[in-house]
Amino acid sequence: MVPKRILIVSEASDLHSNAVAWALRKKGHDCESLFTPDFPTLLGLSTRVGPGDPAGRFILRGPDVVQEDRSAPFDTVWLRRPGGPVLPEDMHAGDRQVAARQCEIFLAGVAPFLDQGAGTFWVNPPASDVAAQQKACQLRSAARAGLAIPETLISNDPAEIRAFLREHGGTVAHKLLRPASWLVQDEEGGEHIYAAYTVPVTEDQLPDDDTLRLCPGIFQPYLPKQFEIRVACLGDHLVAIRINSQTDDRAATDWRAGQIYIGMEPYDLPPEIAAGCRRLLREFDLAHMSVDFVVGPDGEHTFLEINPQGQFLFLEARAGLPLLDMFSEFLVAGRRDFTWREDHEIVRFTEFEAHWKQSWRAEAARHAHLIRPLGAPDAAEEKS
Ligand SMILES: Nc1ncnc2c1ncn2[C@@H]1O[C@H](COP(=O)(O)OP(=O)(O)O)[C@@H](O)[C@H]1O
Ligand SMILES: [Mg+2]
Repeated sequence: MVPKRILIVSEASDLHSNAVAWALRKKGHDCESLFTPDFPTLLGLSTRVGPGDPAGRFILRGPDVVQEDRSAPFDTVWLRRPGGPVLPEDMHAGDRQVAARQCEIFLAGVAPFLDQGAGTFWVNPPASDVAAQQKACQLRSAARAGLAIPETLISNDPAEIRAFLREHGGTVAHKLLRPASWLVQDEEGGEHIYAAYTVPVTEDQLPDDDTLRLCPGIFQPYLPKQFEIRVACLGDHLVAIRINSQTDDRAATDWRAGQIYIGMEPYDLPPEIAAGCRRLLREFDLAHMSVDFVVGPDGEHTFLEINPQGQFLFLEARAGLPLLDMFSEFLVAGRRDFTWREDHEIVRFTEFEAHWKQSWRAEAARHAHLIRPLGAPDAAEEKS
């Protein structure tokens, strides 16, 4: 076996990047993790070009860096969840603003600098990743790919929002454009995280128009559900899970809110839905994404969204599908027409989890964070 050179760009508290890096190293590959919030305080990043070396050099210096000079093109780069730069709180506000902007621009330039068309397999290509995260574009492309989509309004315009509600019988589903959470301190100094989930809203629950216009939202008819589906697309290799969200009230509206109370099981995707997912991957020029569907009373699959940086390890934790091994093999194979074969020793998530439970606290302390983790990030939990 020729070891592959693989780069994972993410943040230190992200379980998926840690798990996959661990699996790749266990399989004998050379995997470097670049945790972008470590930049600039803990991580030195340098790009260098000159007349004698137009291809340039890329040098990393920091806590988890295995090899500093990474100028040779990577075989695969996984843009998992790059986070923004973290600067010291006590900086002068003006300095901070200037430095933050420079840091953001420099970080945004790293992927294009590494993308020299030299045969690197990108998961996902930097430009595709950005376009594919826009919900309105997702829905339009899903419809073009032959998938059923709900009527959708994304707006901050009170007139449009109120008219949409009336058009749909007075109650619609409301959700945010990006998952959001609030960190709140109680009177005893304890910290709590509140997450925003999908909820049905009626017109009398809307705030006044001046408030309503301050935060855009997504509005859709509330879809009746039999169950829900999450599809992980590793190139052409699709793995699906059935989420029995209607078996517990806490999960019925937004399954993530009550996920620990419901069952999940492997799901055979209908061929036309699988074909639609593959067309959607091509439409967005993506190597990898997760897709959410609601399955209605008559078995119809309605597309909700794609997430190029979606969670997939819960398919293994909850339904035994070996996603850690599959995803690692996908990065090693470095091709979109990937098919997973059970012809090797399979790396299991439970093994990583045991190691992670012991080590996450010490690991987290060695890195910078946009939001400090309060507990061990859990694979079984889907948060976005
Ligand atoms: N129109 C809808 N009708 C009923 N339930 C919905 C609707 N939209 C979303 N949900 C529920 O909320 C969850 C999250 O919504 P989703 O569209 O996947 O956005 P995100 O994951 O970005 O919050 C879905 O998995 C589903 O359980
Ligand atoms: Mg979702």
